[in-house]
Amino acid sequence: MNNPINKLVLISSLSVLLTACGGSDKMTDVAKDVASKGAEKVTEVAEAAGASTEVAAKAGEMATKAVDHVSGAIDKKAAVDEAKKITKAFGGALKSELKAAMKAGGPINALDICNTRANPIAAEKAKEFNAIISRVSLKNRSPINIPNEWQKAVLEDFDARAAKGEDVKKMGFSEIVEHNGKKQLRFMKALPVGEVCTKCHGTNIDAKVQAKISELYPDDKATGYTVGQVRGAVVILKDLN
Ligand code: HEC
Repeated sequence: MNNPINKLVLISSLSVLLTACGGSDKMTDVAKDVASKGAEKVTEVAEAAGASTEVAAKAGEMATKAVDHVSGAIDKKAAVDEAKKITKAFGGALKSELKAAMKAGGPINALDICNTRANPIAAEKAKEFNAIISRVSLKNRSPINIPNEWQKAVLEDFDARAAKGEDVKKMGFSEIVEHNGKKQLRFMKALPVGEVCTKCHGTNIDAKVQAKISELYPDDKATGYTVGQVRGAVVILKDLN
């Protein structure tokens, strides 16, 4: 279909999206409101333009669908922005404790931080942001961090993308699913292996560090990594209103 009504729907949808992308929450609400009013208007305009009642109704229906689609995209963008913020807050808190521990007593000392602080910090941030936060890996160190089915699929996709040369730092995944009758955002951000990570996840780990890792994690799979690979991912789950 390539009629003026379609174009009208497309233009109004795009303008909503553009307004929302650059705007505040309030602007987003206003944009959605204008768009849904616009959808009602499409039926009227179509009838006035001489379309049959049936065609006019169809145009209105299409407009509503387009508006729903755009509203969904706006909601998703806001949720993803929030998830990125949560990931940053969690990663930042964990990294600063890790760095301080490394400085104070090297990797052996820092191992204790990863061992005892990673999950409490995740829990703290989860409470603060009303979300579920975890870390997962295809080669997990802690048995708590085994990915579930969908997380495994995303991690495999990250690996495939990294193998093709995509920048791991920028890799992410997001989708909105129905969960317990609510919409839920599933968000994952890839964690690249940096130089410092290789001290505890690399190919040439100090014997004392390795001994302690083996003691704390008898089923450890998280060694043998080189810089630039995907070590794992942060997972954020957030119910949407
Ligand atoms: C001082 C040693 C040490 C360093 C350095 C370190 N890690 Fe870890 N890492 C650990 C330990 C110990 C765990 C298990 C934590 C737990 O018990 O929850 C872990 C777990 C993880 C996990 C969760 C999945 C799993 O395998 O259990 C990810 C992801 C991870 N590390 C990524 C990184 C990245 C990325 C870096 C570099 C920025 C890094 N680590 C640096 C010791 C370290």
